[in-house]
Amino acid sequence: MRLKDKVALITGANSGIGRGIAERFAREGAHVAVNYLPGGNREADAEAEVQAFPTAALAVPADVSNRAEVEAMVKAVVAKFGRLDICVNNAGIEINKPFLEATDAEWAKVLGVNLFGSYLVAQVCAKQMVAQRKGDDLGGKLIFISSVHEDIPFPGYTAYCASKGGVRMMMRNIAMELAPYKINANNIAPGAIATPINQKVLNDPASMKNALSEIPWGRFGRPDEVASVAVFLASDEAEYVTGSTYYVDGGLTQQVTLY
Ligand code: BGC
Repeated sequence: MRLKDKVALITGANSGIGRGIAERFAREGAHVAVNYLPGGNREADAEAEVQAFPTAALAVPADVSNRAEVEAMVKAVVAKFGRLDICVNNAGIEINKPFLEATDAEWAKVLGVNLFGSYLVAQVCAKQMVAQRKGDDLGGKLIFISSVHEDIPFPGYTAYCASKGGVRMMMRNIAMELAPYKINANNIAPGAIATPINQKVLNDPASMKNALSEIPWGRFGRPDEVASVAVFLASDEAEYVTGSTYYVDGGLTQQVTLY
């Protein structure tokens, strides 16, 4: 077990990639706090999910874009487990809208969850990690789930790409500022993963054909394939890894169609 007795908070962990990471971390011996959006349509899943984990776990509601809720969430995690070692900023949303039609409200919502939310959760978690650190101990791990679109454009998703590009820069800055505390910060940039966010494409053969033609590996990825990298980045083996992005995309980022 590579995360034995570590305490991990994962945002948006009641579905998709977050859920895959939560399940895998629990199997690796971590105590996992599964964050979910209160009132969201998957609320019930979070409680059922943590019941099935082999380690003690907690379902914690919070809107990641609300400071008071994020502070209460981290407090609840520390009250239950006594500390916090790993924070995975996974919660994210996307809205498909041509740039010329996008509204301010849509921009604010996407940036609010994906970029501001990641900043907020990372900051509150990092403060806890700094406060609990003893001597020269390793200070903790911050992992951000960005996207291949932290770097490559995605027409129809300007706010989403701006948020993920922002997460890329933010993570690199945080990595530098928190290195003296031995807190690592890294991104995982998934490509097309079979999760609810991609349901429309997965259900439509024409879109699927189009998507698959852009993925050298020839298939969508699975949440557990993102989780494998997350386990490494969350483990002590990754002590010297900070400020990096790990692509989990079946080669999607390397695919350049010239003609
Ligand atoms: C998006 C998906 C998209 C994938 C690859 C992800 O960040 O959430 O909608 O399929 O990138 O383009």
